[in-house]
Amino acid sequence: MSDRSRVERLARELRENCRGELREDEPMAGHTHFGLGGPADLFYSPADLEDLARALPLVQGTGLPVLPLGGGTNMLVRSVGFRGLVICLTQAANQIEIAGEVATAQAGASLQVFSRRCQRAGRTGLEFGCGIPGTVGGAIWGNAGAWGGETLDRLIRLQGIDLKTGMCVELKQAEIDFGYRHTDLPEGLLVVVAEFDLDEADPVQVQAKMDEMLAQRRVSQPLWERNAGCMFKNPPGTSAGLLVDRAGCKGLRVGGIAVSEVHANFLVNLDGGSAEDALALVEQVRDRVFQEKGIELETEVRIVGEQGIENP
Ligand code: EPU
Repeated sequence: MSDRSRVERLARELRENCRGELREDEPMAGHTHFGLGGPADLFYSPADLEDLARALPLVQGTGLPVLPLGGGTNMLVRSVGFRGLVICLTQAANQIEIAGEVATAQAGASLQVFSRRCQRAGRTGLEFGCGIPGTVGGAIWGNAGAWGGETLDRLIRLQGIDLKTGMCVELKQAEIDFGYRHTDLPEGLLVVVAEFDLDEADPVQVQAKMDEMLAQRRVSQPLWERNAGCMFKNPPGTSAGLLVDRAGCKGLRVGGIAVSEVHANFLVNLDGGSAEDALALVEQVRDRVFQEKGIELETEVRIVGEQGIENP
């Protein structure tokens, strides 16, 4: 069966058996902060977790690639788009619960909302997330962090579904290898819910820390322009933004994409840029930094092509 007929069959089966929202040939530009990217064959947002449980066996039957999508904040989708099914949990799984020192968030909850709810409940440990866009699931995958805090630092355990087998998976923090912007979570694991261990604290003091972080972010990052966060990981002992800046890349432009004048580790989509413009600019910047400093920058932003993530 051709890929196109498998897509059409899956679309039919999802419509017949599941609720939620299914879109065909859905432009990923509308689901990524960068505002770039061609169509996903199918884009599915289950109504709830029961709906997801009904959908997954249908998806497995097709063998089509599946791409779990968080907030689309750290993602650059090529113009050719993605030849499979994108699953988005922001409708189905966005609950947050704080009981004692354990804060639980479903993967589709916003990290900023979760961070804020923890602050209001007088819990400390996740305030670094107050300015990081995206979902809890996405933050776990990439071990998102800022101002010295990282998502997995306070993780107790997570539960997810292995998209290949449909089996539930539970992983405790100690069973995950993680570090700076890295986890070894297995390809094909859909994170559904996670528990975090937080200390009690005065909400006013937590709020003050958040205010400081947000103020620093506002002056140092181009928050008002379309971007995918920091494009490169910081190499050990130095900052990618500093290296790109020193290599004279600020303002460098390919088509509608430019290196931000505010923070050199951000590429910004100024005016109708394409994913290919962004990728060409990434290569120019990497070349310049390599020539200047002999350091090879590694992309932090996930690049998605027809078969899925290309730089896991
Ligand atoms: N710098 C420059 N020019 C620039 C940008 C930065 O000289 O254009 C210098 C700064 O003056 C500073 C140093 O580089 O001396 C570090 O800059 P900054 O404090 O902005 O931190 P960063 O290392 O660039 C990291 C994370 C950010 C996170 C901030 C705050 C990475 C790749 N970046 O930035 O995370 O918000 O610290 O904690 O780890 C992200 O991962 O997407 C991200 C935005």
